[in-house]
Amino acid sequence: MEGGGILPDFEPKILAFACNWCSYAGADLAGVSRIQYPPNMSIIRVMCSGRVDPIFILDALKKGVDGVMVLGCHPGDCHYISGNLMAERKMRWTKELIEKAGCDPRRLKLEWISASEGERFANTAREFTEQIKELGPLQKEDKEKISAELKAASKVVDESRVRVLMGKERELVEEGNVYGDKAAQKDFDALMKGILDDEHTREKILLAAKAEPLSIKEISKRMGMPSQEIGRHVMWLRHKGKIALHGIEGRSPLYKTVEVEV
Ligand code: FES
Repeated sequence: MEGGGILPDFEPKILAFACNWCSYAGADLAGVSRIQYPPNMSIIRVMCSGRVDPIFILDALKKGVDGVMVLGCHPGDCHYISGNLMAERKMRWTKELIEKAGCDPRRLKLEWISASEGERFANTAREFTEQIKELGPLQKEDKEKISAELKAASKVVDESRVRVLMGKERELVEEGNVYGDKAAQKDFDALMKGILDDEHTREKILLAAKAEPLSIKEISKRMGMPSQEIGRHVMWLRHKGKIALHGIEGRSPLYKTVEVEV
């Protein structure tokens, strides 16, 4: 995990996704009211905070942004009824993935700001900028490693079962399935965490075996995980055609990631 420490000349790059109906209008109000806030922020207007895909956030961090804010209407005020509540759940898992990528999850902030809260927008921008200044630049000397980790995290989000569960969480936990059965939040969390762990490990294996063919023992050494666990994932990846046997070294099979042409 990255460390903190304020660098005197560091001006963070901050990206804010603001929903059209409340938060963007709140930012506009701060502007027309001439309320001062740090100029570090670029704002992207989206129709609803629920539209913000975790990949947008992970990609922004990968491309050199130091912190991301997602701003939406207050609960109960979303113009698409529950978009902001979906955003809240998605952001929780996005923070988990940011942490898995070795970055501080405080680099992502979700906040509710209405059209009449120009002052609140400016305060939020100030506080977040200060927090990111304290955390320091995201991509320092280990730029390549962080980019690779964030890329792996983006691929985890793109897995169909992760997408389906993220999109359906609120429905499954609060409304229930077609039979009216609701999932307990703690059971859902345990399921989702297990899936994210598995997918993240698999993406990291693919990343490690992309540059050179590796044995299970070598992958387990590099990733600091038991060989048995790595072996289980390698077999799964092989079954899915994502990794292939490349040769034998001594008595150890070597595996290499299958490159997919796009
Ligand atoms: Fe503002 Fe949905 S319309 S969060």
